[in-house]
Amino acid sequence: MMINYYLNYRGTTRVRFDLFTKLQNLGLTYHRNRPQGDSIYRLITDAFGPWGIVDVVIGTSVAAVTLTVMTIILFSRNVGLTLAAFTVAPFMIWSNWRFGVRIHKRALESKQIDADLASHIQQAMTRIPLAQAFRRENSEFRGFSNAVGRSVGALLRLNWQEQLYPLARDSILSVGGAIILGYGGWLVYRDQFLSPVADGMSVGTLLIFMDYLRKLWDPLKWLSEFFAKVRIFEAASRRVFRVLDEAETVADAPGARWIPRKLRTMTLDGVGFDYGGGKQILANISAAIRPRQMVAFVGASGAGKSTLLSLMLRFYDPTSGALRLDDLDFRELRLDSLRGHFAFVAQDSLVLPATIAENLAYAKQSATRAEIERAAEAAGAAEFIDALPQGYETVLAEGGANLSGGQRQRIAIARALLSDAPFLVLDEPTSALDPEQERRLIETLHRLKGSRTIFLVTHRLESVVDCDCIFVMSKGQIIERGAHDALISSGGAFSRARRRAEAAE
Ligand SMILES: Nc1ncnc2c1ncn2[C@@H]1O[C@H](COP(=O)(O)OP(=O)(O)OP(=O)(O)O)[C@@H](O)[C@H]1O
Ligand SMILES: [Mg+2]
Repeated sequence: MMINYYLNYRGTTRVRFDLFTKLQNLGLTYHRNRPQGDSIYRLITDAFGPWGIVDVVIGTSVAAVTLTVMTIILFSRNVGLTLAAFTVAPFMIWSNWRFGVRIHKRALESKQIDADLASHIQQAMTRIPLAQAFRRENSEFRGFSNAVGRSVGALLRLNWQEQLYPLARDSILSVGGAIILGYGGWLVYRDQFLSPVADGMSVGTLLIFMDYLRKLWDPLKWLSEFFAKVRIFEAASRRVFRVLDEAETVADAPGARWIPRKLRTMTLDGVGFDYGGGKQILANISAAIRPRQMVAFVGASGAGKSTLLSLMLRFYDPTSGALRLDDLDFRELRLDSLRGHFAFVAQDSLVLPATIAENLAYAKQSATRAEIERAAEAAGAAEFIDALPQGYETVLAEGGANLSGGQRQRIAIARALLSDAPFLVLDEPTSALDPEQERRLIETLHRLKGSRTIFLVTHRLESVVDCDCIFVMSKGQIIERGAHDALISSGGAFSRARRRAEAAE
């Protein structure tokens, strides 16, 4: 028994490892289109499916052996009666099949609804501040209670089938019992009274036979219970395998190359992209960025700046054109090798529920304390970290809730600075910083320029003055490019935007 548990847990752990790895490797196209709760539910609950089936199969084989042994014994007792007993077999098979299909369908439905419930809860927890601010607690509760109601409804529909199944099975067996009793009774009547034979069927033999028959029907009942169970586990497994079979859209091509991490030229060659919704987000973007340049991407909100950066980290592949590192198409490179070239600060600063030191070291596990402190200093984070009672050992809350927005942003910047990747990619790193902090960060970036290539996306036009090249984006295209002064004197969109910004100050 213990061995059984042990094997089951070992097996389930393996399934979870595979599923977790798969989820980690699946591209953002997969994750952005599905609620997180669904993946969590598959990992925690559905993962029991595959080994549940194995367990049931073991139980089934025990029942099958018992069934075979009992059948042999019964045949040796009385062939005619045993054959009569088997008249129920087709009905048993039919009901197994019929209820199996229904239970499977109901189990799949119930699992989907439970996964939706998990997603609902996960989302409701993350929007508690929003719910409180807009006094939506009551409607949140209604949403939750509806989701719970759907889950209970689906469970009841599943349970109903689970209850009907043994009922049908027992009815079939009762009819079978009646047939045998009738046939056996007739045999007794024939052998004892009609034309008596010495070794004919007697009441005693019939009773003994009926007793054996009960022993035959026990494993039959187990078998049908196993079939019901296996259908439920099968539904869970199907949800697991659906993820495992999912195509990895962004993955290493066969023969993908590993290249050493160093400064390289990045080329964007007629890059076009859409998220699959049919709307072209980027069109025909071409540019070459040489090592140690600091370039800026500016443009209206929604122009496609963050999307372009996602292509640089190969979160997605372009739908047309190519990105290259020194003439090597991104898709020819191994993902870890490619991504190792980049340190990335996303637009929404992600911080981990761990200490500040661990948060920074996420970019470079081997970082020493001195390196961590230097990165924090460069990101303008050292000051506030030193002022915390626990300093670098301060544990951050989930989502960095115990930091200010600007502090979170500086943690994210420090993390990226700690990684000595040749490309530093920053998506609006100063949006939450005050003008003084922003000035200091831009100075830091200029100091780093000698050692790295820097991509800066920003709405603060005064911070791009010293960039080597400014790309002005509009509606997914680059409409102007050049150094700051040249863009100003050409009098295009950039110079107009810059004048407006200055006038506003
Ligand atoms: N995951 C996604 N699926 C579908 N469309 C998306 C997705 N992410 C962004 N978009 C769309 O792509 C367009 C460009 O978005 P993007 O985030 O690249 O703009 P941006 O220039 O970074 O804007 P901002 O300055 O506001 O950050 C927008 O119209 C947006 O609606
Ligand atoms: Mg953006």
